[in-house]
Amino acid sequence: MSNLPPRITHTPKLVLIEATKDDVVDIREAFYGGFTDPFILKLFPNIAAQHKWWDDANLDAITQKPKSERYLIMKDMAPEAGPGGKVTGYAKWQCPTGDNPSLHEFYPRFPPWSGEGDSDLCDRFFGTIHAARDEYFEKKGEPQHYYLDMLAVMPEYRKLGIGGTMTEWGCKLADEHGKWAYIDASDMGGPVYARYGFVPLDPINIPGETFTCTPYARAPKGKTA
Ligand SMILES: CC(C)(COP(=O)(O)OP(=O)(O)OC[C@H]1O[C@@H](n2cnc3c(N)ncnc32)[C@H](O)[C@@H]1OP(=O)(O)O)[C@@H](O)C(=O)NCCC(=O)NCCS
Repeated sequence: MSNLPPRITHTPKLVLIEATKDDVVDIREAFYGGFTDPFILKLFPNIAAQHKWWDDANLDAITQKPKSERYLIMKDMAPEAGPGGKVTGYAKWQCPTGDNPSLHEFYPRFPPWSGEGDSDLCDRFFGTIHAARDEYFEKKGEPQHYYLDMLAVMPEYRKLGIGGTMTEWGCKLADEHGKWAYIDASDMGGPVYARYGFVPLDPINIPGETFTCTPYARAPKGKTA
């Protein structure tokens, strides 16, 4: 028996769009479709109360910060995908607006934890990766950067270029504005980001946890990471 996840059997008709407030449920479903690692589920359990937390958080970002928190969804509009199409994955790019030229433009990244997951672990994990990111850009003296906050693709739609396309979207913007880009990558994401010019930094491990997060930085055109 194969351990590979099921694949779509039709030819998808993929369309990349920016999400609206009507897409928050699809975004959350794409999050849980994409992130199945036990470590991530300790932070964000796949249960109704946590779903509400995600939907509220994403709705707030989309409606209150439309310029700086940009959500992409890739929809399969082929008839086989069902009426109205199917969301195959999503990305959230944090984009500097210039309104607040500091490293902290995007913090707090999340609302207060729901209490459904391991809040202490959330604090330790996100505290550690945010500190590493701040230190990297503080040393560079380059506070404003593009940050790929989330990227998830449904297993049956992987290896079709969807993750890559949504990564490239932010890289193009960063290049247009001469800015750096940064990602806290899972092991699955790393090879995709490397294809778009991201360079791995020191991996981050949380004591007692098996999950490895590797920050990746990408220089704007004409500079090196
Ligand atoms: C990481 C993730 C987003 C990648 O999404 P994806 O849509 O499969 O990404 P892509 O299709 O662009 O690239 C994946 C691989 O498919 C290959 N590929 C892309 N198009 C292809 C095609 N038409 N035919 C065959 N292979 C193809 C790419 O070359 C790439 O290979 P590589 O990993 O050896 O570099 C996805 O695996 C995922 O959601 N993982 C779980 C959540 C996660 O870890 N997210 C990242 C957090 S940082």
